[in-house]
Amino acid sequence: MSLKITVIGTGYLGATHAAAMAELGFEVLGLDVVPEKIAMLERGETPMYEPGLDELLRAHVAGIEGSTGRLRFTTDFAEAAEFGDVHFVCVNTPQKHGEYACDMSYVDSAIASLAPHLRRPALVVGKSTVPVGSADRLAAYLAEHAPAGADAELAWNPEFLREGFAVQDTLHPDRVVVGVRGERAEKLLREVYATPLGEGTPFVVTDFPTAELVKTAANSFLATKISFINAMAEVCEAADGDVVKLAEAIGHDERIGKKFLRAGIGFGGGCLPKDIRAFMARAGELGADQALTFLREIDSINMRRRGEMVEMAREALGGGSFLGKRVAVLGATFKPDSDDVRDSPALNVAGQIHLQGGQVTVYDPKGMDNARKLFPTLGYAESAREAVRGADVVLHLTEWREFRELDPAVLGEVAASRVVLDGRNALDPVPWRKAGWTFRAMGRPTA
Ligand code: UDX
Repeated sequence: MSLKITVIGTGYLGATHAAAMAELGFEVLGLDVVPEKIAMLERGETPMYEPGLDELLRAHVAGIEGSTGRLRFTTDFAEAAEFGDVHFVCVNTPQKHGEYACDMSYVDSAIASLAPHLRRPALVVGKSTVPVGSADRLAAYLAEHAPAGADAELAWNPEFLREGFAVQDTLHPDRVVVGVRGERAEKLLREVYATPLGEGTPFVVTDFPTAELVKTAANSFLATKISFINAMAEVCEAADGDVVKLAEAIGHDERIGKKFLRAGIGFGGGCLPKDIRAFMARAGELGADQALTFLREIDSINMRRRGEMVEMAREALGGGSFLGKRVAVLGATFKPDSDDVRDSPALNVAGQIHLQGGQVTVYDPKGMDNARKLFPTLGYAESAREAVRGADVVLHLTEWREFRELDPAVLGEVAASRVVLDGRNALDPVPWRKAGWTFRAMGRPTA
């Protein structure tokens, strides 16, 4: 008998996971408490931009012409409990307002809503990023509240997908990590991930706390790499060195590696910033706060880069006030190939300049709607060219391919002043300088 899978929470992670499970051949039921979300998914649409996801959904959502019909949706926990052998919990754990800790209320309420309906053997698998110790607590809750008792088991299976590569990362993960307490859970999860495992994907089996920590440790390491290279960028700026060359040179050492060493305005998004903060908060509760004090520095290096970009822009405009200056901002999302503007360094920089009196015009290939909602007072343009029209300085803050392909000569015709600042070290200075632009990038020499 083939396993039946439910996915609880159909946001970014859940929608991708549900579609990927259907792609792997399972019958899948996606559950969300927001009926509008379910209605959209039933039409094969997602509320976010993620390359390949809408296509994958339409290939499987029941009722869509030509689909396999393996993927359905509901808002009913009783139906989900009845349907699934394996229940993946994919709800989000955002940062609590005004605190470092993460908000566990969505995870807790998903488990609380499912548990009383679990009458037959089932595996509940947490995928959300949670503070270490949560799985122990949730397992005790399940044992107490599920009618199936010990037959309703818990496992922890952290998710490592990146926005912009979510489909690819889910279908072909680097590794599958599972925290389990018994052989039955391990066996079921090996069955779920049989396809990636067959492709040689490593399968790491461990206990609950280690599985939870793998995720926060991985994100902390990635954040550390980025802040490390950004700290080097600060030193390069002081010493007239070139951080791009430096990153390339140290990256040739395989122990260091080339990836995640792109200096610029730093990391943002819904994961890295909140995960390192929640990790510090949890370590504090465990009496291990000293072990993670370095993460506070990682966070502050990261936040400093945004201010540094604002100062670079001020300097490029001759110093002094932004009042009356026109600033074009290319990029609003926290990274390319996503429409996500959560904790976006680009929008933060745009917002700071706006607050200081600058006349900011933003353009982003996919993030305009979300940016407008978050920062309604900024100016927006429908193309890069329109954003640059009349600008005294152009800031490149999210490294979309579209911006690398811009023709600096054509843009130069509409800009008031040919000054471009690359906050992502992703533009090639040569064509810009050739077209008469003053080109500056973070952590690189001025000429
Ligand atoms: C991250 C992790 O990579 C992923 O494994 C985890 O599951 C969720 O969090 P994501 O938030 O999608 O994924 O973005 P990621 O590609 O990691 O980039 C995060 C931020 O770091 C972006 O703002 C990006 O612009 C920035 N970044 C990345 C740099 O500034 N320099 C780099 O070299 C790499």
